[in-house]
This record gives sequence, C-alpha cells and structure tokens, in this order.
Amino acid sequence: MPRIANCHNIADLRRRAKAKLPRPMFDYIDGGADDEWTMRRNSSAFDDWELLPNYLRNIATIDLRTEVLGCTLDLPFFLAPTGMSRLFHHHKELGACRAAEKFGTLYTLSTMGTTSLEDIATTTQTPKMFQIYILKDRELTREFVQRCKAAHYRALCLTVDTPLAGNRERDLYNGMTMPPKITLKNLFSYGFSFDWLFHLALSPDFKLANVAHRVDALGGGAMGLIDYVNSQFDRSVTWDDAAWLADQWDGPFVIKGLQSVEDVKRAREIGASAVMVSNHGGRQLEGAPAPIDCIPALRDAIGNDLELILDGGVRRGTHVIKALALGADACSIGRPYLYGLAAGGQAGVERTLKLLRAEVERSMALLGVSATAELGTEHVRKVGSSSRCDLSSTDKVL
Ligand code: FNR
Repeated sequence: MPRIANCHNIADLRRRAKAKLPRPMFDYIDGGADDEWTMRRNSSAFDDWELLPNYLRNIATIDLRTEVLGCTLDLPFFLAPTGMSRLFHHHKELGACRAAEKFGTLYTLSTMGTTSLEDIATTTQTPKMFQIYILKDRELTREFVQRCKAAHYRALCLTVDTPLAGNRERDLYNGMTMPPKITLKNLFSYGFSFDWLFHLALSPDFKLANVAHRVDALGGGAMGLIDYVNSQFDRSVTWDDAAWLADQWDGPFVIKGLQSVEDVKRAREIGASAVMVSNHGGRQLEGAPAPIDCIPALRDAIGNDLELILDGGVRRGTHVIKALALGADACSIGRPYLYGLAAGGQAGVERTLKLLRAEVERSMALLGVSATAELGTEHVRKVGSSSRCDLSSTDKVL
C-alpha cells in the first residue's frame, strides 16, 4: 500500500483507499450502476479528445483562478456532493471541507452527509453549496432552504437524476448497509481494516446528521438509511417543483444531473444559474453519455446564459483542461477526493487536490496557456479529425 506522500496520482490514492477500507465501503465509493459501462466511459471518453499546444508563449505564471457561482475559486475544480463520508474516514465531511478551504475551492455538502450543514458552516470559511433533493417530505426540503439561508450557504444544488436509486450490484453482493453491519457473511471483508475498525469502535457516529430528526420522526431510529432514502425519493417531481424550489432560494441555484439540450434550456427558463452536467458518476442510469461528450452541444445551445460544470470521470489534470477548453466553466470531482479521504482523511483529500492542481498547472504550461480563462476550442480536437478546432465529429445528438 503506497504511503500518502508516495501517491503520485489518483490511481495511487485509489489503491491505498482499497487497502485501507473494508470491501463494502470501498465498493460503495468505487462502484457504479449495472455493468458500470457509463462509469468507465465517463473517464475513458476524455481519451477521444486531444490537446493542441502552442509554444513560445509566456507561461512564466499560470493563473488557475476560476469564476463560478458568483465567486472566485483558486482552482478550476471543486468537491461534488457525496453522501455518508463517515463510512470512509472518521474525518468525514469536515476533513474534506477543510482540505477544500486550504486549496481555496468550494465544498458541496450532500443532504445525505454525516455532518450537519450548520457544523460545516461554523467551522469553515470556504464557499459552500448544499445539495438538496425534492423529497416526498416537502417540509424537510423547505426546512433545508431556511437552514442554508441562515448558515449563509453560497449556492443550492438540486440533484434531479435520482428519482429512484440506481442498481448498484456491488452493494447488493456486499450486503452494504448504513450504518455498517458486520455479519458472518461479510466478516472477512472487515477483518484487515484495523484503522477503520478502531475508529468504528471509538466514534460510531454514522448518523445522517441533516435528516436524522426526520428519520426518527418517520420510522424510529431503527430505520436504515437506505430504507429512508428509498422511501423518500419522489418519482412525481417535475419542472414545476424545481421552479418552486428555485423561487425559494435567493442565491445561485444549480441543477445537477442534466445532460440534454432540452433540459438545460428548461433549467435556464426556471432561473438556474448553473447546471452540473452529470450522470451521478455512472451510479444511476446505465447507458447515459459521458459528461465530456455533452459539453460541446450544451455550450452551443445555451451560449453564455448558464454556467456549465462538468461532473464525472475527472482523474487527471488534462481532463479538467479538456473540459474547460470544450466550454465548461469548471469541473467537480467525487471519487478522486473520496479515495483521498479513505486513504488518509483530510491529508488524503489535500493530496488529491495538490496532485490535480499540479497536473492542471503543468499541462497548461505545456499547452502554452497561462490562465484558465484563455482555454478555448482552439486547444482541443477530437482524435482522428484533422483541423485545429474541429468539433464537427462531436455527435450532436443531445
Ligand atoms: C455520490 N454522488 C452524489 N451526488 C449527489 O447529488 N448526492 C449524493 O449524496 C451523492 N453521493 C455520492 C456518494 C458516492 C460514494 C459517490 C462516489 C458519488 C455523485 C457525485 O456528486 C458526483 O456526481 C460523482 O461522484 C462524479 O463522478 P466522479 O468524479 O466520481 O467520477
């Protein structure tokens, strides 16, 4: 297992996370829906694009600052919402948010987080976004909006690609539960994760801190998370509900999980300021396209009316550069920082951010670009096409 300091890329951090975590927890991060084709495609689709360098440009300084959601981030990428971080490390959401703060970027807290939105707000200064679902329990959705306003969250992010849970077969095989249950069947997979087990015994705080009061009200403490979540997803939610939520919120309103031109135009109509172009990291609809392949057509259709955030598949700095060159305003990462968190808590997330920052910086210099704002379609081309800014081979089916 490589030490944190010897992890030189996200794949190394993934290996370390795998060695440190019990199998069910690692697979919960690492897995996707069905055959995991979409999950793999999210990353491999970046290989269909190549970068076109220009030399003898002044690249003495590289400016990574990025304007998104009404603030300036020091990095062109930020942390996407991921539920239940306590499963992966006892530093949980706070460790990830503190790492984001150190690197001057935004942290997104999931509704399904194991730290309360108030605790995150009072302990850290970095810009924060809260990820929300429109649940059957509308009172809870309303309550979140009020709590986020009181805690001065910068943005609200509505996830729409989860009207029901995706089919994650690794979790079924592992008997994944929240809170984790050690049974005879899965005993072996917990056996060698000594650190993790030690902290399980020391601080077994596997609470869905933002919804716990409602879980108790609805089903008593015995109701498991997965049951609660499944019982709360509302298949009858429509654009009218999204418009209602957008009206409740004063600041930047983000819709996460869109991929089609039609949906992105609807998002603009209801007053969203940004869209996270995402398939939930391949954890929901198997067969959905890779976000990087959606960006050109979406940017074409929407012009500069809406910010587009590429979410999914980023494992290298060059992936971020390709996304920005094709029209994304910023990227967000999920698994890369969760591998870091599992590998070494806050220090592991910092390692993720440090590695990706160094990769973006180095590759921009090699590309001959000194600021993220300068990246454009002239820097990228579909593999196999001949002209410099040829996007014509992009399938504009969306
Ligand atoms: C997620 N994701 C997610 N999204 C969301 O809107 N609410 C959530 O609670 C979660 N929870 C969650 C848990 C875990 C373990 C993972 C891996 C992902 C999806 C996440 O925000 C993001 O869309 C993907 O992770 C992006 O893909 P990459 O970066 O992991 O490839």
